[in-house]
Amino acid sequence: MAATLPTQHRALVLDSIGADLQVKTLPMPQPTSGSAIVQIVAAGALSYHREIYNGQRHYPLATPMVGGYSAIGRIAALGPDATALKPGQLAFVDCVIRGRDDPSILYLLGVSEGYSAASRKLAREVWRDGTLAEYAKVPLENCIPLDEAKLCQSLGYSFQDLMYMGYLLVPFGGLRDIKVEPGDTVVVCPATGGFGGAGVQVAVAMGARVIAMGRNETELARLQEHVRKGTPWASVETVRITGDEAKDTAVLQAYGPVDAVLDFTPPAAAKSTHLKSAVAALRYEGRVSLMGFVDFSVSDMKVVGSNITLKGKLMYSREDTLQFVKMLERGVFPRGQDFVDTKTFGLDDWKQAFDAAAEWTGVGKAVALMP
Ligand SMILES: NC(=O)c1ccc[n+]([C@@H]2O[C@H](COP(=O)([O-])OP(=O)(O)OC[C@H]3O[C@@H](n4cnc5c(N)ncnc54)[C@H](OP(=O)(O)O)[C@@H]3O)[C@@H](O)[C@H]2O)c1
Repeated sequence: MAATLPTQHRALVLDSIGADLQVKTLPMPQPTSGSAIVQIVAAGALSYHREIYNGQRHYPLATPMVGGYSAIGRIAALGPDATALKPGQLAFVDCVIRGRDDPSILYLLGVSEGYSAASRKLAREVWRDGTLAEYAKVPLENCIPLDEAKLCQSLGYSFQDLMYMGYLLVPFGGLRDIKVEPGDTVVVCPATGGFGGAGVQVAVAMGARVIAMGRNETELARLQEHVRKGTPWASVETVRITGDEAKDTAVLQAYGPVDAVLDFTPPAAAKSTHLKSAVAALRYEGRVSLMGFVDFSVSDMKVVGSNITLKGKLMYSREDTLQFVKMLERGVFPRGQDFVDTKTFGLDDWKQAFDAAAEWTGVGKAVALMP
């Protein structure tokens, strides 16, 4: 589809793992079959973006590359096979790239090229550059249309607010994967981080009763207050992780049988016993979505004896994304700072942005780069 694009654009480039990122002027990518060129409005920064690019997290990435995560953008140009997207349309730009002939091949654009030869090939040869740029070339199917009139004019979300989708979608993928139903009691653990906090907001929006576990009581209280202000009809119980597995289990069990657990335990919390306590509090045929990256063992008697489902989950599907946008458009999430308080930075301030993202974590907190 014909479009007048600038000939160049600015992008945040990582030349090698461990090197400082640099804002460079690059040739404008061109729309080809199966692709869209998106003008980036706001791109998300992860709490551990800094650790990915400085090598601390050992995520596989081919350099040089333009950094990124999911983003909000405006369609600037489309390949000739686009059938539904329109130039000018607002879109969520999903960083989850999948093989078109095998959707089980996936990786996260700007974050990790994945762990298979096929994902590496796709990441290196086709979709390499992420969204920390004025423009990005992405697969057509990674552009999820957003109803700008409804979301921004009627409901009052800003583009930065919409970027918070990049956080909320991840727990939504896990919760849907284990078929959480309205009315279910769901333990989110730990709930004081970025994705855990987002998990509490999403589970509440899905009609669940949420028990949030965390070791930081101040943050648990902020989480409870954030949910109370944004969704006064919902309540969140909080349970402090004490390090005493039996005691934490007993506190959870006092709330009655737990239907499901959403886990975001990071590697740093590998020795914490909160997940074991949460699993022990599950009802017969309870379900667990394992979304953190941690080795853990549980009692066979509990898992086998109670028909427990333990399900790993990476990100979410395109169907999850479309369903999530419908929820957002129905207005089930709060607005303004009761929804999310986003700190924004320009591309040149990438260092401050990643430093802020490492600190500004937890429910309703996000960092975005606006090129
Ligand atoms: N499966 C997926 O698709 C997917 C997608 C995104 C992220 N993740 C994973 O999710 C995890 C969480 O990410 P995030 O961005 O939410 O991280 P984050 O914002 O840094 O939060 C980390 C959380 O872990 C808690 N924690 C850290 N050390 C602990 C310990 N020793 N004992 C108990 N709790 C501890 C923190 O509690 P305090 O508040 O007390 O520090 C906080 O709740 C990461 O491992 C990430 O890789 C998975």
